[in-house]
Amino acid sequence: MNTSLIEQRLHDFHARAKGFRHSLGYPCNLNLDYLAPLQHILSLPLNNVGTWFGHRHTPLHSGGFEQEVVRFIARLYGLEDDAGYHGYVTSGGTEANFYGLAQARDAHPDATLYFSDSSHYSIGKSARLLGLRHRVIASDETGEINYTALAEALRQRNKGEAAIISLNIGSTMRGAIDRVETVIDLLQTLAIGRFHIHCDAALFGMMLPFLPGSPCPQFGQAIDSLAISGHKFIGCPFPCGIVITRKRPQGNYIEYIHTADTTLLGSRNGHAPVLLWYALMTRGSSGLAREVESCMANTDYLQNRLTCLDYPHDRRQYSNIVCLHKPADAIIRKWDLATEAGWSHVVVMQHVSRAMLDEFLEDLIQSRG
Ligand SMILES: Cc1ncc(COP(=O)(O)O)c(C=O)c1O
Repeated sequence: MNTSLIEQRLHDFHARAKGFRHSLGYPCNLNLDYLAPLQHILSLPLNNVGTWFGHRHTPLHSGGFEQEVVRFIARLYGLEDDAGYHGYVTSGGTEANFYGLAQARDAHPDATLYFSDSSHYSIGKSARLLGLRHRVIASDETGEINYTALAEALRQRNKGEAAIISLNIGSTMRGAIDRVETVIDLLQTLAIGRFHIHCDAALFGMMLPFLPGSPCPQFGQAIDSLAISGHKFIGCPFPCGIVITRKRPQGNYIEYIHTADTTLLGSRNGHAPVLLWYALMTRGSSGLAREVESCMANTDYLQNRLTCLDYPHDRRQYSNIVCLHKPADAIIRKWDLATEAGWSHVVVMQHVSRAMLDEFLEDLIQSRG
């Protein structure tokens, strides 16, 4: 292909993607303009094979950035630097969930995994791939796991058997938050001493730590693993995630790469940790807190307007997701809304302005006639 055709193709692709600002349906942060200073990094061949705490001879990896990203998030979740935890930057939320559950299975091979029917499909998929016996628990009317049904399922398990519980720290569709404290109380009441609590905090994982009074889980509360997506609230331009586990696995030492094998993948994206690091360091906790506050204020605005319009909707506390009765197909297409069982949702991310919400609401009003 000649150079001008190649350039034209790239130009057209960029213009089409960049021009799409009507994104309300998925938890992607489109405010990525701050990334320009990182362009030179993309031309480096970076590979974070192995772990960031391993000894590497080459400078062509970003292990130091990865370590700082993991440490930044671990501190938000109550882990001291010397707590002996483990964490790394994954290829996305799915790998982070899979890894947390794999560690749970390795620690408790006899366990059954419990999760709600509002969980992301990556939880059921991980269970199948890991060969984990599992039970799906119904959600209650709020979208949280039904604690009574969970208690009943736990009571029915074999005597002495361990329990792995995957909790939604923000369910995909409704943004419902399963309460870690309630589940821990339940485990205590049932005298279940061997358990692993995995928290799937794909979107809210970078929001709840900055929301005063929120039910943000903490490692001090006996959670064992945490999964967060890097391309959601943080806003990495390509999919990635972060997994943190209370325990650091031994891993086999691999002579060929000079490090221990403690990650799911072999070769790993070395650019993601640099971008995540930059996104976290330039905004800092105070910048992230301001973004959360602004998203919440805009979510309040949308919720209030829907109430005034008498449009059926639902929003959970501490959530920037508003579910509404599925609107006309043209609206779903225009605003790229995710839809499930007659409901669509709007996720109020950083790029979602009141002007966008007004335009969306106007579309809803027009379609109602
Ligand atoms: C609650 C939850 N967990 C996990 C994931 C999986 O993330 P990914 O698509 O990055 O694998 C998502 C994605 O939407 C999600 O909403």
